[in-house]
Amino acid sequence: MQDYKSLFNILTQAIDVEQKKLSSTSPMQMYEPMAYIIGLGGKRIRPLLTLVGCDLFDVNPEHATQSALAVELFHNFSLIHDDILDKAPLRRGNTTVHEKWNTDIAILSGDGMMVKAFDELCKSNPVHIHNLLKLFSKTALEVCEGQQYDMNFETQQTVSVEEYIHMITFKTAVLLGCSLQMGAICANANDLNQHHVYEFGKNIGIAFQILDDVLDVYATDDKFGKQVGGDIISNKKTFLLLKAIELATQNQKESITHLLLSTDMVEKVSAITTIYNDLNIKEIATAEANAYTTIALKHLHEINVNEEKKNMLKQFAFHLLNREI
Ligand code: IPE
Ligand code: IPE
Ligand code: MG
Ligand code: MG
Ligand code: MG
Repeated sequence: MQDYKSLFNILTQAIDVEQKKLSSTSPMQMYEPMAYIIGLGGKRIRPLLTLVGCDLFDVNPEHATQSALAVELFHNFSLIHDDILDKAPLRRGNTTVHEKWNTDIAILSGDGMMVKAFDELCKSNPVHIHNLLKLFSKTALEVCEGQQYDMNFETQQTVSVEEYIHMITFKTAVLLGCSLQMGAICANANDLNQHHVYEFGKNIGIAFQILDDVLDVYATDDKFGKQVGGDIISNKKTFLLLKAIELATQNQKESITHLLLSTDMVEKVSAITTIYNDLNIKEIATAEANAYTTIALKHLHEINVNEEKKNMLKQFAFHLLNREI
């Protein structure tokens, strides 16, 4: 996004410095995978949101650099461990850490990255450290809880849409809210503004995860960088599957039940995708994501800053939700 180019440059510089440090730290078995995953890039939306959250209140975004770095380190930790949990072979178009090295390495380098995130946060302005740590540790725990629900749901027969929304709010959305709010904390924003900034990020995050579920089935861009159909293979209770079960005819319901037990993964992905297509699930999921975007925009409206900055954030949110990767 053109508007955020200078913020993105600040971010890239800080991440590059961190990556260089990681690639030359011992023991290399633990630090090299950290440098590897960070070096694969990704969209880096969370740390960008942190700088945006500071810039929104007219404070130099460099004041939020430590928080931005912390959030990206934490996110990358969560991806290394997520790929173990999800048995994923591909991340950002490359081999996942546990496949390139092994699971022991992936566990330890992931752990180290999470600790480094907290360490980075402690380098912030002492005036803000207490509030930053409080928000960040609450969020980090929620992400882990969300991941546990996600795993529980793989083998849970029935999951309601409400339970699903709670699960994705925790595993994904709260970190987007937290990213923005940490920026706002660094800018000394008042409590009410912080609340609306957080809620904006959280609701965009819910929409973001619903669309991530859609992309998991429908991604066509090579840059997607993950295994298409991975959620179907591991019986994830995605929004798509829950809606399909809800709307299916008796025949389709029986097919789904049968397919969830199938060991022929090619057939499973293709047959479940056909049922999604027949039931218009992609459109229904996109509409659901849009409903959360609308809630997010109501919170954006309430933030007490100039309209131009709010408009930039709104454009960024739309850009994010039109993603193909
Ligand atoms: C992946 O997040 C994990 C989810 C919450 C869906 P991103 O899609 O932001 O991943 P990167 O960082 O851009 O690779
Ligand atoms: C990931 O959800 C959430 C976290 C990493 C905490 P997914 O499992 O859907 O993310 P991807 O699709 O592997 O990136
Ligand atoms: Mg995953
Ligand atoms: Mg997962
Ligand atoms: Mg996913």
